[in-house]
Order: sequence, then C-alpha cells, then structure tokens
Amino acid sequence: MDGMTTRTDDIHRVIRARRSIGKMREDAPPRETVERIVEAATWAPFHKCHEPWRFVILCGEGRARLGEIAARTADLSRLPVEVHERVQAKERGKFARAPYVVAVIAEGSENPIDAEENYASAAAATQNMLLAAYAEGLGGYWRTGRLARQPEILTALGASTGERIAAFVYLGYPAIAPAVATRSPLAVKARWLDA
Ligand SMILES: Cc1cc2nc3c(=O)[nH]c(=O)nc-3n(C[C@H](O)[C@H](O)[C@H](O)COP(=O)(O)O)c2cc1C
Repeated sequence: MDGMTTRTDDIHRVIRARRSIGKMREDAPPRETVERIVEAATWAPFHKCHEPWRFVILCGEGRARLGEIAARTADLSRLPVEVHERVQAKERGKFARAPYVVAVIAEGSENPIDAEENYASAAAATQNMLLAAYAEGLGGYWRTGRLARQPEILTALGASTGERIAAFVYLGYPAIAPAVATRSPLAVKARWLDA
C-alpha cells in the first residue's frame, strides 16, 4: 500500500464519514481484513518507547470466555433478585455483539507521564483501526466502560501490571446504517493565538 498516493480529500472524507456502528451482522469478515485493520493501528504515532501497545483479537469462543467473566463480575448488589439473571445474560453477551473484538492494550510505565503517553498512543492506534475498518467496508465501535477496567478481564487477556485497556474495538459487517452526525463549528472549539 502506497500512502503517498492518498489524496487529501480522501482522508477528510473518511474521517468525516466514519461512524460508530452499534449493530453488526453475525457472519465474520475474513481474518485477513481484520489483520489489515490491526496493522493500520500499528502506524499510530508514539513517544519514546517503541510501539507501546499490543492487541488481542477475540473471536468465536474467545468472546464467550470473556463474556463469562463479565457475567460473573457484574455488580448485582443494588438490583432486585428478579432481574439478576437478565442482567447477567446481558453481560454474558457483551463480547458477542460483533464477530471480532480487538482489545487495544497500552503498555504501562512507572513514570506516570510515559504511562499517559502510551495510553494516548493506544487511543491514536484505536482511531487508525476505526478509520481502516471504515475503508474496508466494516463497521467499528470503540467501547470501554467497566469491562475495560475489570482485573479478571485484564488477566484473561494476559495483561501485565500497569497495562491498561484503551479500547475494545468491535468489528464486523454493519447491520445498520450509520447515524447522521454533526459536530459543532470549529470556532466554538478552536482559536488562533498569533500575537
Ligand atoms: C475513549 C472512548 C470510550 C468509549 N466507550 C464507549 C462505551 O463504553 N460505550 C459506547 O456505547 N460508546 C463508547 N464510545 C463511542 C462513543 O460513544 C462514540 O464515538 C461517540 O458517540 C461519537 O460517535 P461517532 O463515533 O459515530 O462519531 C467510546 C469512545 C471513546 C473515544
């Protein structure tokens, strides 16, 4: 792939057209497509440390294994008993919402600034994946929440002390049309400081 041939208007079009796709089809895209998407992640910028992230690609029963942890660790303490089973079933199915879920794991560091920058780089890697997924005709969804911080999930993914999950990127063929999105005008968020 020759990045030099990318036209400026192509990249702007892709950046604007990408949307979080919350519902995927069950049939799995080819693994090679997923590998190209994860490869795109690895071209993200990083500081100091070389490539401070790694990826675990969950599919098939691998998703179910994490789903079991999600169900087992759900906090039911404030919920009435009659809803426990329903909540657990929902948690159990969380990683099955797409044929692939890529865990983006940021390297840790004893230096808090380095750890923060590793995490920032992992976020950039995640965005690369979402853009690449769009370019491949796949839907992508960045999720975090409780499960990204659940110690048993981290252990199941082989994460070592200090490593953090920057994203679970859900990937699959879109089952819904992308939402229409808007962004506030640039003037609301950016200003020039030129004197
Ligand atoms: C750090 C981060 C964490 C996110 N975690 C979740 C999540 O746990 N659940 C969720 O539904 N969406 C999550 N999202 C996706 C956002 O909801 C989504 O990107 C946002 O609504 C904007 O929509 P768009 O991606 O279509 O532009 C997350 C996004 C980011 C950047």
